[in-house]
Amino acid sequence: MTQRTFGDDFLWGSATAAYQIEGGATEGGRGPSIWDSFSHTPGKTLNGDTGDVASDHFHRWREDVAEMKKLGIGAYRFSISWPRVQPGGTGEFNSGGIAFYSGLVDELIAAGIEPVVTLYHWDLPQELEDAGGWTNRDTAYLFAEYAKRMASELGTRISLWTTFNEPWCAAYLGYASGVHAPGRTDPAAALVAVHHLNLAHGLAGRAIRDVLGDTARLSITLNLHVTRPDDPSSAADLDAARKIDALGNRAFLGPLLDGAYPADLLADTASVTDWAFVRGGDLDVINTPIDVLGVNYYSTGRVRHFGGVGVPAQADGHGDSEASPWVGADDVEFLQQPGPYTAMGWNIEPAGLLELLESLRDTYPDQPLMITENGAAFGDEVTPDGRVHDADRVSYLHDHIAAVHDAIDAGVDVRGYFVWSLMDNFEWGYGYDRRFGIIRIDYDTQERIWKDSAYWYRTLVATNTLPELDAEVEAAATR
Ligand code: FCB
Repeated sequence: MTQRTFGDDFLWGSATAAYQIEGGATEGGRGPSIWDSFSHTPGKTLNGDTGDVASDHFHRWREDVAEMKKLGIGAYRFSISWPRVQPGGTGEFNSGGIAFYSGLVDELIAAGIEPVVTLYHWDLPQELEDAGGWTNRDTAYLFAEYAKRMASELGTRISLWTTFNEPWCAAYLGYASGVHAPGRTDPAAALVAVHHLNLAHGLAGRAIRDVLGDTARLSITLNLHVTRPDDPSSAADLDAARKIDALGNRAFLGPLLDGAYPADLLADTASVTDWAFVRGGDLDVINTPIDVLGVNYYSTGRVRHFGGVGVPAQADGHGDSEASPWVGADDVEFLQQPGPYTAMGWNIEPAGLLELLESLRDTYPDQPLMITENGAAFGDEVTPDGRVHDADRVSYLHDHIAAVHDAIDAGVDVRGYFVWSLMDNFEWGYGYDRRFGIIRIDYDTQERIWKDSAYWYRTLVATNTLPELDAEVEAAATR
């Protein structure tokens, strides 16, 4: 079997997000975010878990950078908590919060690790939500002011500026199905949010370039959906898949990379909104060129046309709700994918990643890509030897990274791969029950324990070559 070796400049990293790891929710002058309010609302998260303490990264960040250095990774993707650096999302900035991220960035650079910053991983200052959140156009302009300030504070130390993580989740899960903060169930509001998130991306990108010039590298991370028709010979099923592609993918790719919302998206959602909130000039702003498109990938979906009575089965992968995240797609039904599955119930299908990357190459051949998240939750256990033998996670990572290599072989311009996640953390609606880390967190002691996947990843990074699954790992993976 030929070895899968990556290019010398291929970037290996790991990813986290502020609310999921930091804790210190009321410390250092941080203001409340929509996730504080949401997680503290009874019934919104599994076991009532909140991010108050999380993985205590706010206090243990030096230790965490030391772990990253031991892993040998070249880059760390983390997010800045907007309410930590600007508690109300408008007005005064918090110098203590800015100093926290500045110190983290210096520590990373000293460890030889490139800081890849995400400005928004879902934790909107609560004060802005009270004023309408992402349904209020002003939020986009305030976001650009926050981005500008971060650009002048952190400056050229940041190797890649990512405006948003998965605006799909922020808009549709936050405002339509309500399984994420702020927990609203208003389909029209979700589409307004889609546009204002897109607009905020463009405004922020321009603001960052105003401060740092054209050398600042820009990106946005999308969770693109690989959705297949149940019966590829059925026109109705093909149309169902097209609708999901429009809402899930092209509602973002269209304005970002083509400078227009797709006509079929506007038609599909005409009964929900007339899109009059899109103003002249907005699309030019959103279409500001990006250096890298971030791709988060976990699993695939399958749909068919729903002609029945009542409500079709819906999937969003992040929680159950009576309300659908798929606005204007009431005639689309999601079907259970064949297994195997992760602990999230997400199907494991590395071929979907190759398919996604190839389709992006076909549509946007000049757009460099980076895998900004990929990984899996499993029911990890600490064995008597004090280790976590997470053969299932090693196998998941192996097969997906092999798919990335296949994509590169097929001419796709993929620049890097970030494993989700560096460590176990607050998995949104599922709280601490679902563990994605390659490093285990003992939530009683906050001890960090390397899982087998961390050792395996370290070998991959050190050799730049995909390690084959050893016999023991392989046997355990299939048990
Ligand atoms: C993605 C999120 C990330 C994490 C993974 C499992 O949708 O960006 O924060 O929750 O899923």
